[in-house]
Amino acid sequence: MRTLAAVLVLCAGSALALPDPFDGKGAKTPPVVTVKAPASAISQADPRVWVELDAPGKAERQAAVDAGISIEEVKPGSAAGFATPKALERAKAAGLKVRTTVTLRQRFGALDFPEKDAIYHNYKELEAELRSLAARAPDLVSVFSIGKSTRGRDLWAVRLTKGATGTQRSKKPGIVFMGTHHAREHLSTEVPLLIAKNLVDNRADAEVARLLDTRDVYFIPMVNPDGVEYDIEGGKYHMHRKNMAQNADGSTGVDLNRNYAWGWGGGGASPNPDDDTYRGPSAFSEPESKAVRDFVSARPNLKVLLSYHTFSELILYPWGGSDEQIPDKKALAAFKNMAGEMAKMTGYTPEQSSDLYVATGDTCDWAWGEKGIFAFTFELTPKSMWDGGFYPGAGVVQRVFQANIRPALYLIDLSDDPYRAAKDAAGITAK
Ligand code: ARG
Ligand code: ZN
Repeated sequence: MRTLAAVLVLCAGSALALPDPFDGKGAKTPPVVTVKAPASAISQADPRVWVELDAPGKAERQAAVDAGISIEEVKPGSAAGFATPKALERAKAAGLKVRTTVTLRQRFGALDFPEKDAIYHNYKELEAELRSLAARAPDLVSVFSIGKSTRGRDLWAVRLTKGATGTQRSKKPGIVFMGTHHAREHLSTEVPLLIAKNLVDNRADAEVARLLDTRDVYFIPMVNPDGVEYDIEGGKYHMHRKNMAQNADGSTGVDLNRNYAWGWGGGGASPNPDDDTYRGPSAFSEPESKAVRDFVSARPNLKVLLSYHTFSELILYPWGGSDEQIPDKKALAAFKNMAGEMAKMTGYTPEQSSDLYVATGDTCDWAWGEKGIFAFTFELTPKSMWDGGFYPGAGVVQRVFQANIRPALYLIDLSDDPYRAAKDAAGITAK
């Protein structure tokens, strides 16, 4: 059942031909702006709006981000994302031109995905899935917790390697795939989960067997389980991004992808607790980001990290918190070549994170800056809010997994020495 009601509130006097971005069908359907559920089902209004702004260039995108808007979509001439009414006012005061806004309304109830999206895994289902993987191939697969969430849920990791289990240390080169730092980005849990499953299913394949013999492969498919469970409460989506921290001003949540220590507190990360991009009271203030930090810090064998997000179909590499390029030319060449190769495999667009907008405190800047780990952010399918946005539906899961298995194998292979990718087409290694 359709539950999130979208209402066009500002359309410059004309009837706007835009589909309901929250209908989750992923189709370019005619505009649907009706409120279907009885008003009594709405127990709390969500004041945020989806806002589309004139943004001819990066300056406008940056101004929007700096006003506290979580920019989720960049198109020629415009940018769009979520804003509180206050952030919207700040954006307008900064001179930004608003094209449209769409309000959200929230509802509450029991606990799960909407029926049509039942294929997605909630927290309990994810744990069960990981445990059954381990039971299927105990010589290869182990499950352990890297810490607890704000509300006390275990943060599950699954490890695939020969000859070591759980938290035993290994000297083999390692790689970690992570999902759902942002609650509403549910596809970013499914993709690493399906990749892990695929490796286990194909463990007899010579290449997969070689990789699992010689690499230490980790998956943390749900970094923000509290946020995920809240986002699907009542069998309806709540468009929630952050974790479930209780903020001093009464608002909920810290943006975990603004809470890492590298450049924390700088541009593109909001100091306002009620913004979607709230950076938190201090770097690593949140148990979820802290758990990732401690997990990574305890494993100096990790050489590559991939943090899945949705959406926009992008492959991003550091820096995100600064316009500068990373200074090490050889590493930069490796990053660019790796992103370029994976772009060919997926059809996604490769770019430096900050080409979108500068935003400090993300996972990858910390992993690269602090640990020298080759760290990528993938923004998965779809391309646009109007193709399903955060809720593209059950129909895309297999296709998006299929597009992402090759880049995953490529990175696992390269994790012994990512600098191998610094060679150009002529075989000359950048210096
Ligand atoms: N959509 C992701 C986010 O907002 C992308 C972050 C990429 N990093 C950046 N600094 N631009 O968290
Ligand atoms: Zn995200």
